[in-house]
Amino acid sequence: MDNLSVDHLLGIKFLNKNDLELIFETADNFKEVINRPIKKVPSLRDITIANLFFENSTRTKLSFELAEKRLSADVLNFSSTQSSVKKGESLIDTVNNILSMKVDMIVIRHSNPGAPHLLSKKVNATIINAGDGAHEHPTQALLDCYSMRQEIGDLNNKNILIVGDIIHSRVALSNIFALQLQGANVKVCGPHTLIPKYLKDFGVKVETDLDKALKWCDVANMLRLQNERMSESYFPSIREYKKYYGLTMDRLQNVNKDIVIMHPGPINRGVEITSEVADSNNSIILDQVENGVAIRMAVIYLLAKKNFDR
Ligand code: CP
Repeated sequence: MDNLSVDHLLGIKFLNKNDLELIFETADNFKEVINRPIKKVPSLRDITIANLFFENSTRTKLSFELAEKRLSADVLNFSSTQSSVKKGESLIDTVNNILSMKVDMIVIRHSNPGAPHLLSKKVNATIINAGDGAHEHPTQALLDCYSMRQEIGDLNNKNILIVGDIIHSRVALSNIFALQLQGANVKVCGPHTLIPKYLKDFGVKVETDLDKALKWCDVANMLRLQNERMSESYFPSIREYKKYYGLTMDRLQNVNKDIVIMHPGPINRGVEITSEVADSNNSIILDQVENGVAIRMAVIYLLAKKNFDR
């Protein structure tokens, strides 16, 4: 039980329940470390990690970088917009050139689903998926579940609602896999056009009425509209979307029970969630970000322990 079952973190789909428990236990230890006056451990002193971001990021990029530095790894940051990718270099060539500089691990965010999986087969390094298109965002789901557990304990049989643009969301799919591994009941809510039909085959319940869905849940994870992945119109107008699927204080108070409000960020305030709700006592949005560092430390440490005998 003290080693992960996988050599790379490509998606939650490839993990088992023991992997999740091991990551959460390890994150507990690192959370204690990062709350000390000296927030660093020497565990990965001789490991070099390259963060390859082919898509924009604030939270994930900074959180990985900080996690690596807290573990004393050497860190390289690569942004595709300032690189020779712009001159036509392929992904595999780019990564192999970086690996020639004696890099051990690659953290990659890419708009193409499957890019981390391809790398894991073609290059000689440990690969961590930091978000691949609309496919998976495994460390986000891990930090989300870890944050939920802090609020409501064991997730077995808890009711977890994911609201909004499910069809374009890598966060939704990774959360569904991680929540189901822990025995949670998962429901998604949004307009039919933003909910993929295959989710019913995964045992996920679908509700189009947000007020009904809120009454059912212990936790509501609000997602933004991912306009950058939309090639057509999925609903009549933002005004209409806000009316039916925006989380307002009135809606929350109407539920008559305390539910935990989450959002992976970035938030579009006033669209999927109002500022009043995002900044309320029910919201754990900034706790999610804080927990992200400990979770990423745990993932990196456990993969290094398995692959480099640390
Ligand atoms: N939650 C998340 O992935 O945020 P970023 O896009 O800022 O990394």
